[in-house]
Formats: sequence, C-alpha cells, structure tokens
Amino acid sequence: MKKILIPIDGSKASQQAAEKAVQVGKLLNAELTFITVVNLPSEDKYSYFGMTVENAFIANRKEMLKKLLQEESKMLDIIVRNLEYGDLHIIKKILTGKAADEIIKLATEEKYDMIVMGRRGFSNFERFFIGSITQKVIASAPCPVMVING
Ligand SMILES: Nc1ncnc2c1ncn2[C@@H]1O[C@H](COP(=O)(O)OP(=O)(O)OP(=O)(O)O)[C@@H](O)[C@H]1O
Ligand SMILES: [Mg+2]
Repeated sequence: MKKILIPIDGSKASQQAAEKAVQVGKLLNAELTFITVVNLPSEDKYSYFGMTVENAFIANRKEMLKKLLQEESKMLDIIVRNLEYGDLHIIKKILTGKAADEIIKLATEEKYDMIVMGRRGFSNFERFFIGSITQKVIASAPCPVMVING
C-alpha cells in the first residue's frame, strides 16, 4: 500500500494540502499520515554561552511543551475530523524537534511514497516564493513532494 505524509502546521495552506492529499489518497488507495512538529528553543544555546538557566525555567519549559503538545494534538484532530477521507486508513502523529528535519527523517525511515504539503504556512511575506520548511523538505526529501498553493 502507498503511504502519503502530510505535514500540518494549522495554516490554511496546510489544510488545503490535507484536502488534496485525501483526493490523491483515494486515487491510490493510500494510507495517510498527518504530522505536526512542535518546537521549543533548546536549553543548549544557553549552556553554549556558559550560562546556567534557572531550574524554574527548565521546569516551565517542560510544562509549556506539554501544553503545546496537547493543543497541537487538538488542532490536528479538528483538521483531520473535517476531512472526507471515507474508509482510507488515517494516522496522526505529533513530533517534537525541527519541522523539516523530522519530516524528512520520518519520510526516509518509514519509506513514504509521497509528501503533500503547503507552499506557505503562517508567514505572509510575499517576497518569499516558498516557506522555509517546504524549501528544506523539497531539497532533501527521499520521495516526490507535492506542494499545494494554498
Ligand atoms: N511545524 C510544522 N509541522 C508540520 N508541518 C509544517 C510545520 N511548519 C510548516 N509545515 C508545513 O510546511 C508548509 C509551509 O510552511 P512554512 O513554515 O515552510 O512556511 P511559512 O510559515 O509561510 O514561512 P516560514 O515558517 O519559513 O517563515 C505548511 O503549509 C505545512 O504543510
Ligand atoms: Mg512556518
């Protein structure tokens, strides 16, 4: 069975990518995996400069990450629930890390056949032709990438 990976950041473009992925998925009878990557700045950057971050900050960071994971997971549920995917097999994943790295890693390790994503996300800079995450994924993806102009 073909496997399609659909990175979702919640933007309109990513929702349109999700709808397109469902259409393509139906043609190929593919399995669809929707993934959202959550990122928080790491503590490493402070230790690099010889600074010690207060424990309270670290504890707070863990709490923040937990909350973010919960919220992103709700967002993904809502987006997927609104799709008319019929009896296609659907998987939802929330990962932490750098979005492009995680998308490429997953597509490579789990041998996806195609990635469907938005041309843009939440930035509205018209001067950029394409969002930075999409640009990185296109540059290093192990499979074809379908970019949706949302
Ligand atoms: N954190 C994320 N998790 C999953 N998919 C993402 C994430 N961020 C972006 N994407 C995917 O990448 C597409 C393009 O978003 P991208 O972040 O590259 O552009 P942007 O937000 O407009 O610009 P930038 O983030 O470079 O300022 C989105 O439509 C979505 O498919
Ligand atoms: Mg973005």
